[in-house]
Amino acid sequence: MFEKRFLKRLEIQKQNGLYRNPPEIEHREGRYIISGKRRVLNFSSNDYLGLSTSAEFSEKVADNFHKYGTSSGSSRLVSGNHSVIRQAEERYAERFGYEDSLFFPSGYQANIGVISTFFEPGDRLIFDKHIHASSVMGIQLSRADYKGYNHSSLSHLEKRLQVGGNRPAAVITESLFSMDGDLLNVKDLAGLKEKYGFLSIVDEAHAFGALGKNGCGIAGKVADVAIGTFGKAFGFFGAFVLLPRSFKEFLLNFSSPVIYSTALPAAHAASAVDLLELVSGSDEKRERLEKISILMKKQLLEKGFRVKGDAHILGVEIGDENMAVMLSKKLYQSDIFVFSARYPTVPMGSAILRISMTAMHTEMDVAYFVETLTREKERIADG
Ligand SMILES: Cc1ncc(COP(=O)(O)O)c(C=O)c1O
Repeated sequence: MFEKRFLKRLEIQKQNGLYRNPPEIEHREGRYIISGKRRVLNFSSNDYLGLSTSAEFSEKVADNFHKYGTSSGSSRLVSGNHSVIRQAEERYAERFGYEDSLFFPSGYQANIGVISTFFEPGDRLIFDKHIHASSVMGIQLSRADYKGYNHSSLSHLEKRLQVGGNRPAAVITESLFSMDGDLLNVKDLAGLKEKYGFLSIVDEAHAFGALGKNGCGIAGKVADVAIGTFGKAFGFFGAFVLLPRSFKEFLLNFSSPVIYSTALPAAHAASAVDLLELVSGSDEKRERLEKISILMKKQLLEKGFRVKGDAHILGVEIGDENMAVMLSKKLYQSDIFVFSARYPTVPMGSAILRISMTAMHTEMDVAYFVETLTREKERIADG
């Protein structure tokens, strides 16, 4: 009975161009993936600084696992509260200018854990309509009253803030949006915060490591709570939440994903500390990332593509889901791997080719991408 339903749903996904079937990767080599013995240029990875294949970091991680073992053995509250983890969290808090921080096994879990725990029925949550699925899930689980505002429209946010009286309010946004690639208007958000006094939660998953001084992101003091992930520019896995000390205490006591899930091991925390130095010392890589991203956008625009994105995430607007899939398949045949983001990741009818630029990409990679995409689009148009 269930299988029949699942197969039917999968068939509908295929018909609508929404079926997911990513290529299998055998190996990663810098900006390439090796798949089916082919070397494919990768524009689908959030490893923005290239740290995930850094020999230096891999060695440090291996040493840490040798030293501390492979598991924390249990949840943080049962037997996983290792001093190495606490010290690492203190280091992150200090570096990013917060009272404290708390590590999670993933950014997805962090957003759910934080948002679903902090808020309760009667609270007002106001969020950018394009925030990540994990934040939306956290909002729904909290059972607070919630309203979205149009993507990046702080005037719409202000309208939302004007209604609802004195009930506690929180605003949830990203600093660099994962699909649109645009940046939060930090100054205007700070102005609204001053005027309306809400709590702000800013997900800097795509900005931490890649943007700002020492890779400390762009939201700074406007975020009461900031979400970071190790899985993107940090080239690792897991996540960190920057927050006031009392908020951490609250999460340790009431957040289901913290209480009922095995903590990341001490070796992870020790490696996270190593990463702090690697990431802050990556100014050249950040400059390179910025430069190559600007070049990619410029060249795509020159060829007449509609491109969104203010930094290293660029979206080539395609619209039709089947067309986006077809283009990304054609590019793959030419040894380019780029993700076709479709509903529900982006709104229906707004499919994009989501280009993740990294500091490892070269001018020749950009030229090859633009040339191949232009050619394939023309071929499809010519039937
Ligand atoms: C904005 C944003 N927040 C959170 C996450 C989840 O982070 P993680 O991959 O560490 O689970 C993602 C991942 O895609 C994301 O784009």
